[in-house]
Amino acid sequence: MSVLEQRKIRCDALPMFWLNFFGGKLTYFALWTNAKKFAPAPPEPEETSISGNRYKNVIFGGFQNRYHSSSKLHAMKFGLPAKYYRDQAVFDQESERIFDRSWVCLGRVDSLANPGGYRTVQVENRPLLLLHDGERSRVFYNVCRHRQAILCTDESGSLNGDCVQCPYHAWAYSATGDLVRAPNMQSSESEGFRSEDFGLVEVASVTWNGFLMVNFNSEGCCFGEDYKAVLNVYDPWDLQRLRPRARLEYDVGANWKLLFQNYSECYHCPTVHPVLSRLTPYKSASNDLLAGAFLGGPMLLSDGVESMTLDGKAVANPISTLSPSQQKQVGYYTLFPTMFISPHPDYVMVHYVSRQSTDHTRVTCELLFDPDVEIAEADIQRAAGFWDTTNRQDWHVCELVQRGMVADLPPGPYSPLEPVLPMIDRHYLSVMGA
Ligand code: FES
Ligand SMILES: [Fe+2]
Repeated sequence: MSVLEQRKIRCDALPMFWLNFFGGKLTYFALWTNAKKFAPAPPEPEETSISGNRYKNVIFGGFQNRYHSSSKLHAMKFGLPAKYYRDQAVFDQESERIFDRSWVCLGRVDSLANPGGYRTVQVENRPLLLLHDGERSRVFYNVCRHRQAILCTDESGSLNGDCVQCPYHAWAYSATGDLVRAPNMQSSESEGFRSEDFGLVEVASVTWNGFLMVNFNSEGCCFGEDYKAVLNVYDPWDLQRLRPRARLEYDVGANWKLLFQNYSECYHCPTVHPVLSRLTPYKSASNDLLAGAFLGGPMLLSDGVESMTLDGKAVANPISTLSPSQQKQVGYYTLFPTMFISPHPDYVMVHYVSRQSTDHTRVTCELLFDPDVEIAEADIQRAAGFWDTTNRQDWHVCELVQRGMVADLPPGPYSPLEPVLPMIDRHYLSVMGA
């Protein structure tokens, strides 16, 4: 309610009060309603004059927004200021407040490390080594415990005699991370050296629905508790069983949060995605996860549309465990801070989001299918081709926003068709301690 409207209510309320009083009809109800109307109005926003125009200044989410003095926008939600998308100090603070403490998805566990082999990945400048101890995948720092040399430099490979050997002084580690060889360390000068003290440093990891997740905060992280809100949300799609059949990779010239925001609204769909907009009505979005690290919900498929593909036809029968309503919709969920999951009737799309710098984000998009259903490659491409086009359209507008941030203008108001975006901002600001 604007200040002007509040003043009007105060004026309207006065005659009503005196009428009731002199008519002897003063009731508790009238007192209560009028008391509510006489509630103190919020303070007038401070005004600024710029180039002859007057602007109101309003603090929202700990930062200042400015809008024209004649507008009624102060009840609306505004975006984050540009500094959150371009400042190195914010990026560094995110490392400590978000990425050092959150579960980060590395991808599908089956495609990462197998018995007898290794994979290397870089997460937030941390070199990691994925090994398989025969029972499960484990994640270690890809760093030797002698003088911190990188152990494996290739993206993947086979263990040498069941060991990873450091290329510098030949210390060697087993697939369980134990130091099994340290040449010449058993002499009298190194008395007290115990190889069990110098195994590889392990990173907390868990496999959930076939995804390998890591957390650099080894103290106090509990996946079951942290992921409680979504632990079973995807059960009908039986994600554990699905296997990637298509993989799309992108380098996007935009801050990672712009990708989260873009994914979470379809306000842009009529302009940016003409094909997608024919498959799914852009106003059909609803949300069943409304707060915290996990947000999103389903959109409906248009009549006659079976799935999100180039021609709207499904690539396979709907996954048999889905309910009738789940067979008519596509879900869009963000799992803060590294993942989107989009369950379709016949497949599941996943985006892995990896920030590289303030204005560079690497994205891998995988389409997961039931391995027991025979699907021709051409059909896989009907889905992958559709999403490749759509992804590129999205990255383009994210890059436009990133470029616009250079001007450092005050943020604008969110549309009613962007209800999840203030939720993303709220969660982000809360974990940033802003
Ligand atoms: S740094 Fe690895 S053995 Fe010396
Ligand atoms: Fe989009």
